[in-house]
Amino acid sequence: MSKALTTLLFSCILFSLSVSSYAQTCTSYTFSSNTVYASCQDLPVLNAFLHYNYSSTANTLDLAYRVTGATATNWISWAINPSGQQMAGSQALVAFQNSSGAMRVFTSSVASTSISTLSESALSFGVSNLNGSFVNGEMTIFATLTLSSGMTTVNQVWQVGPVSGDNPQSHATGSNAANMRSVGTLNLVDGTTSSGGGTSSKIRRQNVHGVLNAVSWGTLMPLGVIIARYLRVFKSADPAWFYLHIACQTSAYVVGVAGWATGMKLGSDTSVHNYPHRNIGITLFCLATLQVFALLLRPKKDHKYRLYWNIYHHAIGYTVIILSIVNVFKGLDILEPEKKWKKIYTAILIFLGFNAAMLEAFTWYIVIKRKKTGSVKYPSYENGANGTNAYGARAQPGV
Ligand SMILES: *[C@@H]1O[C@H](CO)[C@@H](O)[C@H](O)[C@H]1NC(C)=O
Ligand SMILES: *[C@@H]1O[C@H](CO)[C@@H](O)[C@H](O)[C@H]1NC(C)=O
Ligand SMILES: *[C@@H]1O[C@H](CO)[C@@H](O)[C@H](O)[C@H]1NC(C)=O
Repeated sequence: MSKALTTLLFSCILFSLSVSSYAQTCTSYTFSSNTVYASCQDLPVLNAFLHYNYSSTANTLDLAYRVTGATATNWISWAINPSGQQMAGSQALVAFQNSSGAMRVFTSSVASTSISTLSESALSFGVSNLNGSFVNGEMTIFATLTLSSGMTTVNQVWQVGPVSGDNPQSHATGSNAANMRSVGTLNLVDGTTSSGGGTSSKIRRQNVHGVLNAVSWGTLMPLGVIIARYLRVFKSADPAWFYLHIACQTSAYVVGVAGWATGMKLGSDTSVHNYPHRNIGITLFCLATLQVFALLLRPKKDHKYRLYWNIYHHAIGYTVIILSIVNVFKGLDILEPEKKWKKIYTAILIFLGFNAAMLEAFTWYIVIKRKKTGSVKYPSYENGANGTNAYGARAQPGV
């Protein structure tokens, strides 16, 4: 038991470490050149960070705009837009790695949103010390801007896009793309920011739908199966595992139905349907509802049909888990949130899978040991207080 707990604790720590590595902040970052900036901002989208020094006496802004997870075929850009929170009118710093492997860094005054490439032009304010770097997937633009006095709250626009043939190409423009939300204001004096390009209500509803379903179908349901399958090995966890399983699956079902309903509503409000995602969702709702009703029809432990009920319950249960995970990934592909969300969900699955594998091994170890010694130290599968044990007398792990 203590071994299992240690393992659980250890993987919890691993898990939180892997999650926190996605939630990096600019304050703990050190530049390889040891350049220090007094202020920094974690920009809300595109894995972007702004580090800067602002002098209100000289009106100079020393900055480093940094993007993580960039590739050699990405361009990055940070701009001040005196004319609004938009692309047109942006006074942009642009950088990418050109085909000879050198960083090309230039300024571009963006005339309109219809341009097909960012071309070099002078800005409405002074720019010096322009430089760029691309190291370990981090692309950075360094610059010193000389702003006009009174320019203390500026509209900032930042961007990441693809490069082709040494020319920056258009960034993603889908209604949900992070590239459409990368604007806001920045107060250079007190460091406060606001994000513009407000998330539309449809995107907000899609996000709510995604979170509800990833938590319920995608996380709680598999967790409830792990509880049922492995916790009952521990005598001390009987009958607690049964109630935990019920509690986990019931709350997953309640939250999951809410998430399912938001999905059906989203589907009926849009003209672009994603049928596989919707059909898997409907199937999941039916199967899970069936599970709830099957619980009411569960035969007594020693009933001759109990074996068939168990087979049925497990078959539907595992089908639900597999379909849920598939559908969460399908949903993530539709929603296209920032990459980190897919990574975080994958990390959760790896965490659950790792624990399941450890517990599976541990359970078999106990069963084999019990068989060898005929020991009564561990509970057998037949004595569950609720008569909920699988397949009557079969003393095997979690079948
Ligand atoms: C920013 O300001 C700090 C002092 O506040 C100074 O140590 C640092 O060198 C400045 N960095 C740049 C890039 O000018
Ligand atoms: C890449 O940039 C460097 C530095 O600006 C320049 O010398 C070189 O000619 C560029 N290569 C291409 C293919 O444009
Ligand atoms: C620009 O950056 C490169 C590499 O980081 C460095 O070697 C070079 O000295 C820098 N140039 C200037 C003008 O700071």
